[in-house]
Amino acid sequence: MSTNATPSDGRRRPRGARRALIAGALGVIGLTTVLIAPGTAGAAESTLGAAAAQSGRYFGTAISSGKLGDSQYTTIANREFNMVTAENEMKIDATEPNQNQFNFSAGDRVYNWAVQNGKRVRGHTLAWHNQQPGWMQSMSGSNLRNAMINHINGVMGHYKGKIAYWDVVNEAFDDNNGGRRDSNLQRTGNDWIEVAFRTARAADPAAKLCYNDYNIDNWSWAKTQGVYNMVKDFKSRGVPIDCVGLQSHFNSQSAYNSNYRTTISSFAALGVDVAITELDIQGGSAQTYQSVTNDCLAVSRCVGITVWGVRDSDSWLGANTSPLLFDTSGNKKAAYTSVLNALNSATPNPTPTPTPTPTVTPTPNPTPTPTPTPTPTPGTGACSATLSTVSSWPGGFQTTVTVTAGSSAVNGWTVQWTWPSGQSFSSVWSGTPTVSGSNVSVKNAAYNGSIPANGSTTFGFTANGSAATPTATCTSP
Ligand code: XIL
Repeated sequence: MSTNATPSDGRRRPRGARRALIAGALGVIGLTTVLIAPGTAGAAESTLGAAAAQSGRYFGTAISSGKLGDSQYTTIANREFNMVTAENEMKIDATEPNQNQFNFSAGDRVYNWAVQNGKRVRGHTLAWHNQQPGWMQSMSGSNLRNAMINHINGVMGHYKGKIAYWDVVNEAFDDNNGGRRDSNLQRTGNDWIEVAFRTARAADPAAKLCYNDYNIDNWSWAKTQGVYNMVKDFKSRGVPIDCVGLQSHFNSQSAYNSNYRTTISSFAALGVDVAITELDIQGGSAQTYQSVTNDCLAVSRCVGITVWGVRDSDSWLGANTSPLLFDTSGNKKAAYTSVLNALNSATPNPTPTPTPTPTVTPTPNPTPTPTPTPTPTPGTGACSATLSTVSSWPGGFQTTVTVTAGSSAVNGWTVQWTWPSGQSFSSVWSGTPTVSGSNVSVKNAAYNGSIPANGSTTFGFTANGSAATPTATCTSP
């Protein structure tokens, strides 16, 4: 959406081209130092991804689906990076343009390009005040809260088991006062962030769940402290959060500060991974790029760095701000070399701890247990279903239903139950409901009807009323 092409805070705007030029010149001087400095690691790697991998980290970039036909772009991106974030394609407006009509075509193009080229994917982003589709922008209260939950379930369900890290919530803090940013999501109640994380954990237990924000790089800023306190609170109360993303859009108003390393290590000390998720440095200072890289390398839980674009011409800030590692012609910049050298100088980490050889307890020759002859279940009844409450709030709740096949594969299923005390569906995903009074039945969606023998699938819903887990029956044709 056009309104979102602009940074939402004044401090990130490109300003002071002259300062940028000076910064760039200083960067080149910084580079000279870097080139003379002796390397300390073993064989130097020649790409960012391979160099980062030496210490168990990744080096990523934002990828735009519209550029996947540009061979210079894909050649550089494929060669250098081993983690990919969709620049816009997995955002709310892209994935749910109309309410409950999900569209993953552009997201899948980025995802498929990444995995077909051996890269992992960071999911970005599920709950955010920006780049909301029109229908969501005009929502409020419990309708919006339910829509957020439904959105998280829909998108994470589609990519279940496939995403390394999800930016579950993006940019929820105020720029100045250390509190929350006002937004339609914030107005649904202060617990919206933890509800988003709990929903996300249930939707894809394999994904690491991150809070992501800008201007939380400088340890002395109120916004950094606000986010730090939220993460500390979440960890103390068991709200599922695994990582913090520092966007790290640096410019003269929001400049790199040497306390960045303290920020990274302080978040890590709370027991979360830290990732640098959208790095760009206006002016492209090689020195600053080197410092940022070394600060990440200094903290073992700093898991990787993602730059927000490939070439300067791909940057959301405009090529004239020179913020990235490759110039508009695709040449490596001084900043590229400083990052590569820093990565190559890292102490290998994780330190290869000798893996203890597992003691193999000799298995006594098993007495063959007579295999009971399975009674073939004729036709129906070859599946079962259980409801489990994910979260509840006054007047509503969210449930995940697990549908499990018996010893034969199932092709199509229907789950039925009766509401005990007047509950009603608010929204259902990954299944098609039919309601008759208090009797409900949910049939499989087009993509999850086939369950292998002993396998399972899930669907979910939010409902009005007090949380209930009635006994469900499952039938398959
Ligand atoms: C930016 C994209 O790069 C632009 O193409 C788009 O027009 C607006 O969004 N913080 C974020 C990113 O979390 O999603 C933003 O990406 C940049 C700021």
